[in-house]
Amino acid sequence: MKAIVINSFGTPDVFEQAEVQKPEINNTSILIEVAGGSVNPVDWKQRQGNHRLLFGKKFPIVLGYDVAGKVVGTGKSVTRFQVGDWVCGVLSKSSYGKGLAQFAAGPENFFTKLENVKDPGSFAALSLAGLTSLQAIRDKGKLEQGQKILIIGAAGGVGHFAVQIARIMGADVYAVSSEKHRSFLEQFGPHTFIDYHKQDILQLNHHFDIIYDGVGKYSFLKCKHLLKPGGIYINTLPRPKILVHKLLALFTRGKKVRTILMKQIPEDLDQLVAWVKEEKLKLCIDKEFKIQDVASAHVYSEAGHTEGKILIRYEW
Ligand SMILES: NC(=O)c1ccc[n+]([C@@H]2O[C@H](COP(=O)([O-])OP(=O)(O)OC[C@H]3O[C@@H](n4cnc5c(N)ncnc54)[C@H](OP(=O)(O)O)[C@@H]3O)[C@@H](O)[C@H]2O)c1
Repeated sequence: MKAIVINSFGTPDVFEQAEVQKPEINNTSILIEVAGGSVNPVDWKQRQGNHRLLFGKKFPIVLGYDVAGKVVGTGKSVTRFQVGDWVCGVLSKSSYGKGLAQFAAGPENFFTKLENVKDPGSFAALSLAGLTSLQAIRDKGKLEQGQKILIIGAAGGVGHFAVQIARIMGADVYAVSSEKHRSFLEQFGPHTFIDYHKQDILQLNHHFDIIYDGVGKYSFLKCKHLLKPGGIYINTLPRPKILVHKLLALFTRGKKVRTILMKQIPEDLDQLVAWVKEEKLKLCIDKEFKIQDVASAHVYSEAGHTEGKILIRYEW
């Protein structure tokens, strides 16, 4: 099958098209013909070689976690899908994603069915960032109706889902971004928009139940004075220093530090898709790229100013 591979770590020009082996499925997995993918920062961090100690460097490597496509094969024990179904989901987290290819395989639990949706390929942009923010806000933050949440990086992939999910859950959202994303974010009804170029958020005169730091430029130690007693700081970048911050948090009147590591939970994927179908959650595509131009998609993502998500369309 055709795939976009890398044969060394480095800049976006390491991508090349190649023929690779089609993935095999086991009893509990499904094979899909991929129609759409998405770029997440993890993809270019892996392209740069940041995860080589974790996942090795056996080239060629096929990157890419977010996929949407049509089921073309099912294992004997698969119960939720049939050949011909459209699905979206996040591929393996225990290796490089392998999504930038004609076909991708994974356990059925990594996917959800897409029924009666327009443009199912575009749902590739939903899963990884949507799951991250749903699980961060609901499970790590335990957000309750009427609470105040500060969302840093509110216009990005993770952030724009976070703003919408927090609004669905009835929170007062303070969305931090730059001015150019104001109208984009205001469509989701945040309580307050904060331009981080004009306002130093560390000087804000508010206290929050939750601070969701999607960009990792503000640590718990920097932000803790903005949390109410018992408030929770959540970071999307797991780093060793978070352990130190967790210890220090013991001396901060019940304030807590949490890190999110997205998990493929099928019920959560079902929930995200249901919200999109009910028009409660908007899947916002900033830019689309063809699979052959994935290098440009990485350049765009790496620049760090995405508004919503980046979509990859597959036509070989
Ligand atoms: N742990 C996990 O499971 C997990 C899952 C998904 C993502 N992540 C991580 O979460 C981070 C965000 O991911 P993403 O997909 O949202 O990335 P993204 O879409 O590339 O985020 C881009 C956004 O970040 C904003 N931004 C940059 N600096 C900012 C600042 N100082 N203050 C406020 N906003 C700022 C940009 O807004 P401006 O244009 O206004 O600067 C832009 O809208 C990445 O580091 C990613 O690796 C972790």
